[in-house]
Amino acid sequence: MKGADRGPAAAFQSLETAWPELWRRLARAVADRRSPWHVPVVATVGRAGEPRARVMVLRGVDAGAARLRLHTDVRAAKVVELAREPRVALVFYDAAARLQLRLEGEGRVEAEGPLADAAWAASKPFSRRCYTAPQAPGTQVPGPTSGLPPELESREPTWEESEAGRPHFAVVEVAAQRLEFLFLTVTGHRRGRFERHGDGWAGRWLVP
Ligand SMILES: Cc1cc2nc3c(=O)[nH]c(=O)nc-3n(C[C@H](O)[C@H](O)[C@H](O)COP(=O)(O)O)c2cc1C
Repeated sequence: MKGADRGPAAAFQSLETAWPELWRRLARAVADRRSPWHVPVVATVGRAGEPRARVMVLRGVDAGAARLRLHTDVRAAKVVELAREPRVALVFYDAAARLQLRLEGEGRVEAEGPLADAAWAASKPFSRRCYTAPQAPGTQVPGPTSGLPPELESREPTWEESEAGRPHFAVVEVAAQRLEFLFLTVTGHRRGRFERHGDGWAGRWLVP
């Protein structure tokens, strides 16, 4: 509906309105696959201390707890990296809204447990298919391959077949510590940061 989303300009004139606006947009990005915030870049610290970044799908948001949920293969390099160094950074950019969000926090991998079980139960067979690959993501191979079992190469697995992926499935839960937005506009960019302080959050303005 025209006028339903007047853009973020008004929301980013005050820190009190910016905070709920950011979480509203994150929640919307979980549900809306076409939202540019659906696929943030997620950065971890590599085994030798080097920066490592990749795109991941934003799967869940808990605004009250300031936590995000991502899914991954438990054999992926990022899982080893997070176990060694849980600090993580996510960057979201919505070109239409001209809005960047940088979110930093700590990532926790859960392969077994209620969160992983619930996320797996809610996953569709097509999403589960990538976890059925017999070899770990990143394994060197002699030629181009999907890595999938040949019988699932060109079709959706049945629910029963998709269960072969469960041992490889993991949730990454990110507990946010800092959120920093940058809103671009010809009338003056706006940059602000929210930081966790104990149970609460403190916001401040920054020069863009
Ligand atoms: C659009 C898109 C979405 C992706 N979503 C995920 C995801 O949700 N989880 C994931 O582990 N990898 C996802 N990937 C693949 C990662 O970008 C990356 O290539 C892979 O996870 C290996 O990363 P790692 O070796 O650093 O662990 C996605 C890639 C693209 C292009």
